[in-house]
This record gives sequence, C-alpha cells and structure tokens, in this order.
Amino acid sequence: MPIRTAKYAGFCMGVQRAVDEAMKASEQYGSIVTIGELVHNPQVIELLETKGVKAVDTAAEASGQTAVIRSHGVAPAVYEELETEGCVTLDLTCPFVRRQHEIVSRYSHDGKTVILAGQPDHPEVIGTIGWCRGRVYTVASAQEAEALPEMDEALLAAQTTFPPERWASILPVIQRKVKHLTVEDTICTATAQRQDEARKLAAEVDAMLVLGGKKSANTQKLYETCKAICPRILLIESADDIPADFADIHSEIIGITTGASTPDWLLKEVVTRMTDNEQMDQQVPVEETEENSFMADVEATLVKIRPGQTVTGTVVQMTDDEVCVNIGFKSDGLIKREDLVTEDVKMGDEIEVEVVKVNDGDGNVLLSQRNILKRKAFAKLVEKFDNDEYVEGVGKEVVKGGLICDVDGIRAFVPASQLSNRYVEKIGEFIGQTLTLKIIELDEQKRRIVASRKAVMKAEEAEKKTEAWASLEEGAVVKGIVRRLTDFGAFVDIGGVDGLIHVTDLSWSHVKHPSEIVHPDQEVEVKILNLDHERERIQLGLKQMQPKPWDVAPQKYPEGSVVVGKVVRITTFGAFVELEPGVDGLVHISQCATTRIDKVEDAVTVGDEINVKVLSIDPQAKRISLSIRALLEDEAPKPAQSAAQPEAVDEIVPVDIEAVGKQLEEDAQKEEAKEEAVAETETQEEADEKPKKKAPAKKAAKSDDTQEETEA
Ligand code: F3S
Repeated sequence: MPIRTAKYAGFCMGVQRAVDEAMKASEQYGSIVTIGELVHNPQVIELLETKGVKAVDTAAEASGQTAVIRSHGVAPAVYEELETEGCVTLDLTCPFVRRQHEIVSRYSHDGKTVILAGQPDHPEVIGTIGWCRGRVYTVASAQEAEALPEMDEALLAAQTTFPPERWASILPVIQRKVKHLTVEDTICTATAQRQDEARKLAAEVDAMLVLGGKKSANTQKLYETCKAICPRILLIESADDIPADFADIHSEIIGITTGASTPDWLLKEVVTRMTDNEQMDQQVPVEETEENSFMADVEATLVKIRPGQTVTGTVVQMTDDEVCVNIGFKSDGLIKREDLVTEDVKMGDEIEVEVVKVNDGDGNVLLSQRNILKRKAFAKLVEKFDNDEYVEGVGKEVVKGGLICDVDGIRAFVPASQLSNRYVEKIGEFIGQTLTLKIIELDEQKRRIVASRKAVMKAEEAEKKTEAWASLEEGAVVKGIVRRLTDFGAFVDIGGVDGLIHVTDLSWSHVKHPSEIVHPDQEVEVKILNLDHERERIQLGLKQMQPKPWDVAPQKYPEGSVVVGKVVRITTFGAFVELEPGVDGLVHISQCATTRIDKVEDAVTVGDEINVKVLSIDPQAKRISLSIRALLEDEAPKPAQSAAQPEAVDEIVPVDIEAVGKQLEEDAQKEEAKEEAVAETETQEEADEKPKKKAPAKKAAKSDDTQEETEA
C-alpha cells in the first residue's frame, strides 16, 4: 500500500461536534455567527461561510444573531455580553474544556491561585482564565515555571492540547515552587494519541504529509514531531499544496496525518489527488467538488446508528466523569461513568456499548454499557416470569400507588396492595429492604414489570398451613402467639395456622371478655381440642391446661380449715363467698353470726374479704358450706370456772345433751326450711315481675353449674 493514513486522523470529537451543530443551526436559522473561527482550517472556514456560518471576533459583532461558542469555550463574561447583545447562544464548548472550566472555578471559588500550563494567547486559555476567581499564572515551558514565585498553595491544570512531554517537564518545577499543590491533568488525550500515531507512521514511510491549518498550533506541533523522524515532510492545507514531484507513489510509501481541525473529506481529497491526480483535474472542478461533497462526504463517513443498537467502539478519551468512545460515527460517543460497567477501562480498549441517543441535544452520541446489562437482566426476568420463579428486589422509591424496587438493575413497580398480605401503613418502611417478589405482569415492549410481595407471602403461608395441618393432633399441647382478640375468643397462631380459644375455654371461671385473660402477642401454651379439616377450623383450649378447680378443691379446702374468701353475692338465705375463680361457697344465714340475724346484710356486705370455716365440701355437687359463726365460736373465750370456788347453783338439773342437740338441730332445720321457702317465693315473684331480666341469670347459673342452683 503506497499511501498510509494515521489511525487518529480527521476532526477530533469536540471539533466534529461543533462543526455538525453549527451546520445544523445555520440550516435552522438561515445564518449564524461563531465567536472566533470554529476550526483552525481555512478550507473548512471558507466552506462554512458558504453555508451561512460566519466567524466574528466579539460579542458586539454578533449582536442580535444566533451566536455559536466554539469548542475552545469562552470566559463567563462573554456569555453575559452575548445576552446583553440580544443573541441566541449555542454553546458548543468541548466537554473536556468545560470540565477544565469547572475544575478551576471550583478550586478558586475562594480566591485561590491557579497555574495554567498553556499558551497565554490561545483562545482556550483565555477562556479558562475567565473562569478562575483568584490569581492566575500561565506557563508554557519549564523555564517559565522556574520564574514563578514560591507559593503556599495552588492548582496546576493544563490547556487541553498542551504537549504531554512539556507538561512532564513543568510539573516537577511547580511541585518545588508550591508547598500545597493540587494537580489536575486536563490534557486531552486525543492530541497525545494523534502525535503518537503520527510518530509511528513517520518512522515507517519514505515521505510524509501533514494536513491542517498552518495557523493551528496543534498541527504545527504534529509537523515538528514527524519532521524529527521523517525529513521529507510537507505541511499542507489542501490537496492543491502538494507539488507534482513530491513523491512517486509507485515506488515510495507516503504517510499522511492530519491535525484535529482537519475534516475527513480534506484527507480523502488529498489521498485521491495523490492516487489519481490527472483524472480528478479532468472530470470535476475542484471548487464544485468541495462544495457538493462536503455534506456528502460527511454523510458517507457515517456509520448508521439507532437508539438501542449495540456497537463496538474504542476508548479514545477519559475523564473523571465520562469516557469517550469512537464508534465510527461522525461524532464520538460519550458514556457517563455511572453507565460504564467495565472496570479498569483504558485508552484504546475495545468495548461493547449501546446507543442511548444519537444526539443528546448537544450533538453528542449518548452511550451506555449498563443498558446492555439491563437488557440481559430483563431477558433473565422474562425467563423467571415464564417459569413462575421468584426474584429479589430492593425497595428504592415510594411513588404514587406503590413502591419502585430495583430487581437486578431493572425497575419494578409493586402496587401498595401487593406489598403485604396485611394493610401497609407506611410504604417508605420498605426502602432499602430486600424483598422476595413474584412478577405478576411483564410487558417486554414497554419493559414494564409489576411485582407482588403479597403473592409470595400467600404462597408461603399456604405451604406453612399445609405443613402445620399435617403435624397437628387433637389433644396435643402446642405453643402459640395470640394474634387478635374478639368478643367470642382469642385467635392464636400455632405455627402458620390460627386456632380459636373460645371465651369459655380461656378460664375455668366466668370470663366476660378475652382481654381479661390474654393479650395480643402473648405466648401461650394451649391444647388442641378439635380439628375440623373440612372447614379448616382449630378449636384450642387454655383452661384445659389447668386442673379443674373443683377437682382439687377438697385438698385445698378440707373440712374444718379456715380460709379467706370474698363475698360476691348475697341472697335471703345466705352469702356466696368466692374462694378462688370458679369456686364459691355458701355461708348460710344461720352461719353468718353467733346470734340470730334478720338479714344476711346485717353480717356481711358484697365485696367483704372474710375468714370462714369450711363446714363441708362436696366436689361432685360443687358445694362448699362455710361458716362465720363456727369460726367466731371457736375463737370466743371459754367462760372462766374456778375449781376452788365453784359457782353456787340452786339446783342441779340433769340435761340430756343429745336430746337438746337434736332439738336444736330440728329447730334450725325448720328455720332454714322456712327461710328458704320465703326466699323461693321472693325469687319466683321477682322472676314473674322481670322475666326478661331474670332469664339470663338463670341461664348463666345453669351453664356455670354453680352452687346457687343447687342451693335454690
Ligand atoms: Fe476537545 Fe480534545 Fe478536540 S479537548 S476540542 S476533543 S482536541
């Protein structure tokens, strides 16, 4: 191959973008002006003028027009001037230059010093100085750096096109001069790459052409670099500058490289001229070719891309925030660091990227690596959806009607109603939590996923239920947690299934409401009384875990013992005394006092805590006869008797003790029978008068199987 072109030739990303956008704007507005020449290339400038893109030097000259800020960028004052002049401003500052502006502006916000490695008269440096808020020094060489004063602290940054070897020679000098130096290498690697490639090419060829604007410092530097290696070299601005006898393409190898401001079509023109000079001259006038072929050439070089397309590109530029990738399109693509997945990406790496936007509005192609991962992740989710598999998601954001979860990098919506099998009061509590979800709706076209946690919970519950039912047995004792209370009982979770302790099974004594015995979240030990598999109902008992009070009453309250009780009810024939819940005894009216009383109330009142003596106990009949009188009599002091001087008696009458006792007993029985008959009559009268009120009392008495029923 007699002609070899450098790998990195043609416009750099920043210049390409500026030219493209300026052309578009000129088509849209009819004509536009650029603040300074868009590129350092007279041919391109000339051509742009024919397209309505005219360069001016000041904002005043742009007054009232659409003004383009070129890739070099400008100082903030220029934006203000353009606004004052009533211009519509189109900012095409190269992203790498804009980053440099941000760095110096941020560092110097409180007046700190900035040292810029660059040419003080270069438009980019002039613009960057405008973004510094404190003192600025510019140095173009190590000698100039030596002339700087000693400083306590400063930032060192560089013009994006500053030669890397010169930066390397300046850096140690400034490190010596500044005590606390912050270094930001803002050199654009496109320049260094271009020079490296040119150097390699110059070493391989017999003659060399450097194509670019003679005023461009960049191109000049390229020329000097190559000349040191290949002395037969020419700096040309167009194909017309090539002398006819420059080289013999039949016997010699010719290398061509270009500056960053040289368009592809100029390079092609030079190549064509070198290979087919005569034919070109005869067939097509040069002027016409340039004009007609400008857009055609640009178009011809385009790789067609569309959003969503996956392409392979080469990393050509890297900053802290972005990576620039050459994908063969007219503009290089930018990937934000957060959209980059490959770790340790390096210059020259080939990476697979997805086109997000062909034009992000600033003329950049937006790329993403993360989208490729997302696409793959989405495909996996589709598979899981088809197979009814669960996925893991992390709660990210509360939105109207639900929660957004991140499922393997994909957003999934979980409606509030699907967050739990219970009502969720605060959706925000799920943010940051990892949730197991079931995808219930998936739209591949819209890449929309709706997921449910409730479905997972329900399935788990059903599984637990099945397991729990299989392990349950009537009569078994199990542990459980009280979940909720109702008027008729307490629901208890016994390991995945809920059973009910009916209010009557909570205690051996009468319970009005379950809350008297248990409370929610209380751990209880219960007995399974009944399992109804068909209706899925489990009847539990808590009182069954305790012995029946009447079973142990004879041991606790033996005849003759004195116990404490509480008067809970008074009737005409006596007072009922509760010894413990479920165990009441009766103190008959005749046993209430040592003397005869008319009414039970003369001796005790409801609520009194009293000591009583157990006269008899019948656990089968659930009866305990109690006595206050017996206790008082036991405690009463015996009448004092003197053995020495017995009390004088008129007459000693022998008493048949047995007969008196019998008589007393008969009298007492008659009295009791009479009083009970009166009581029965009164009760009956009351019952007749208030049948409705009395009825539940009777029912309760029956169901409770109390001593009252027996006594009455
Ligand atoms: Fe920008 Fe680098 Fe070109 S800074 S303008 S991409 S040489």
